[in-house]
Amino acid sequence: MKIIPCPSSPLLARRVAEASRLEVGNAVFRRFPDGELYVRVQEKEGVVVGSINSNDDLIALIFALDVLDKAKAVVPYMGYARQDKAFQEGEAVSIKILAEILESKAEEVITVNIHSREAASHFKNLINLDAMSLIGEHFAEKDVVMISPDKGSLERVKTAAKYAACEWDYMEKKRIDATTVEITPKSIDVEGKDVVIVDDIISTGGTVAEAAKILYSLGAKSVSAACVHAVLADNAAIKLFNVGIKDIIATDTIECAFSRISVAELIAGSI
Ligand code: R5P
Repeated sequence: MKIIPCPSSPLLARRVAEASRLEVGNAVFRRFPDGELYVRVQEKEGVVVGSINSNDDLIALIFALDVLDKAKAVVPYMGYARQDKAFQEGEAVSIKILAEILESKAEEVITVNIHSREAASHFKNLINLDAMSLIGEHFAEKDVVMISPDKGSLERVKTAAKYAACEWDYMEKKRIDATTVEITPKSIDVEGKDVVIVDDIISTGGTVAEAAKILYSLGAKSVSAACVHAVLADNAAIKLFNVGIKDIIATDTIECAFSRISVAELIAGSI
């Protein structure tokens, strides 16, 4: 079996190949003049590595999987997972549809920190890896306090804090709409401390920005943000720096300038 890198995860795929001592296979991804995607994979078996952070990413991944006789899908960032149920009547449950497609084309689907248990439940047999220990290890030598911006990320921050051997706490969040969140201040002891907000995804940055404002108002010395998936939509990084976020640390599930932690070994251990 060879590793087939999709255009969304070229570096991570190489790192996975290195860590798993597998060769990188022959694959071509091009675009026709009208914008449609062209995919050619000259292998019979393969582990296709590609995050889904856009519709093009999704198409490239499905096409590559379809060509192979025997395929595993490694989807480091599983986009479309936040629509994990019909919140209103008539809504498409995006991740359910994705799960059906991926599982019809791959004998195994591997991902990292899928958004929710509900999202994972739409797969028959998903391997959902947890990168929170890696985030924790990154801060192991640093004197920080880790904060979850909502109760939903409580277990994640606990794991990260265990590996960082640091204190942790959480805040209460209410989502108003896709881009607005309201965070209720809690009395947490962050005065004079270097705080790291830990979350699975930073998308619009609204959650982290609101949490950072509160943490600074409570006397935090500095506030950084750490996440697994740096979606950073809609100039989110600028939004975060504008509220005083000192640093953004992410994994390479979405390859970007903030990818400072690699999930390659974690993935290699599961294929
Ligand atoms: C929510 O449940 C997640 O853990 C993240 O807090 C959320 O996806 C972040 O989104 P945004 O950056 O748009 O506030």
